[in-house]
Amino acid sequence: MIKIRKIFKNISGQFFGRFSKDIGIDLGTANTLVYVKGKGIVINEPSVVAINKKTGQVLAIGREAKKMVGKTPGHIVASRPLVDGVVSDFEVTEQMLKYFIEKVHKDTFSFFVRPRVVIGIPSDVTGVEKRAVIDAATNAGAREVYLIDEPMAAAIGARLPVQDAAGNMIVDIGGGTTDIAVISLGGVVASRNLRIAGDEMNEDIIRYCRDEFNLLIGEKTAEDVKIAIGSAGTQKEKMQMQIRGRDLVSGLPKEITVNDEQIREALSRSIRVIINNIKTTVEETPPELIADIMRRGIILAGGGSLVRDLDRLIADQTEMPVRMMEDPLTAVVRGTGIVLEDIDALREVLMENQDERPLI
Ligand SMILES: Nc1ncnc2c1ncn2[C@@H]1O[C@H](COP(=O)(O)OP(=O)(O)OP(=O)(O)O)[C@@H](O)[C@H]1O
Ligand SMILES: [Mg+2]
Repeated sequence: MIKIRKIFKNISGQFFGRFSKDIGIDLGTANTLVYVKGKGIVINEPSVVAINKKTGQVLAIGREAKKMVGKTPGHIVASRPLVDGVVSDFEVTEQMLKYFIEKVHKDTFSFFVRPRVVIGIPSDVTGVEKRAVIDAATNAGAREVYLIDEPMAAAIGARLPVQDAAGNMIVDIGGGTTDIAVISLGGVVASRNLRIAGDEMNEDIIRYCRDEFNLLIGEKTAEDVKIAIGSAGTQKEKMQMQIRGRDLVSGLPKEITVNDEQIREALSRSIRVIINNIKTTVEETPPELIADIMRRGIILAGGGSLVRDLDRLIADQTEMPVRMMEDPLTAVVRGTGIVLEDIDALREVLMENQDERPLI
């Protein structure tokens, strides 16, 4: 029976393979990106879903839904299906994946061919969460689902020689999670997965404004401040910015000016935790591999790594060269795209527990 199933799988795989344009997905806590084989990145939208809680109806997904964050009436919630890199709401994740897969499906695939899908997910997800992502993608129309560690996908996206017997170190600072990994021979040799990344930096700014200025600001404002004037090291030119929020004492609207030094102080706690964990991971790495990393540098990926001078601070504190990846926000999805081109050659880099259920 199993043999027949395998033969069937092979034949149908060849059959479908000819027509299907397989897709790679970076299921990020902040952004979801979709890569279609032969086309490149076709979707890059926030991982946000707006739901009417009274009726359970999904009102908007992606960019449209993000616009609603913090502005919705009580019964409409703009939720992020993945919080801190884990699937917090299975049904909403499924709806979101389905929406994105159908969106590319409509433009790209013939109606009867279901795509093979490679999905990048954080490295420390549990078996249950992996299953949830596989089921969500399958229900959303995928024919076969493969999961890959986000840092592995980012390393492949950076074209690092992950299958060689050499050390490669990647630090992916995303929205919900920071993944730190040393990769050699297609596997992860040492790693850390933190729930501290870009979102926590926004929280740092919210906390700072509350404690220092009695000012309540929203998540979106905090993110705008971080991107506009956030930094990890002293800046040559002073930067400042006006922000609006609500005075916690009077309850009235208030505007204040913040400068780069204050925001640096606000961000320093999260940045310190990230750097300490990079150091610990380096300490756990076998010396032979350290020599390779010294030569190639630590590679930074993810949107959170764009904080000004973070690369320089990491280099100073670890005493290792650090290289920023080109276009760090698309590293993972580009990696899934490279895997799609040759799943068989890269099978060893995929996560274990792959979906082995029969087709159709
Ligand atoms: N120029 C910038 N400076 C600082 N932070 C930035 C910048 N651009 C984007 N970010 C931050 O990067 C984060 C999103 O990065 P990314 O898209 O890599 O995360 P993700 O892959 O969705 O999340 P995760 O990998 O944790 O699941 C957000 O917190 C965003 O605020
Ligand atoms: Mg990511």
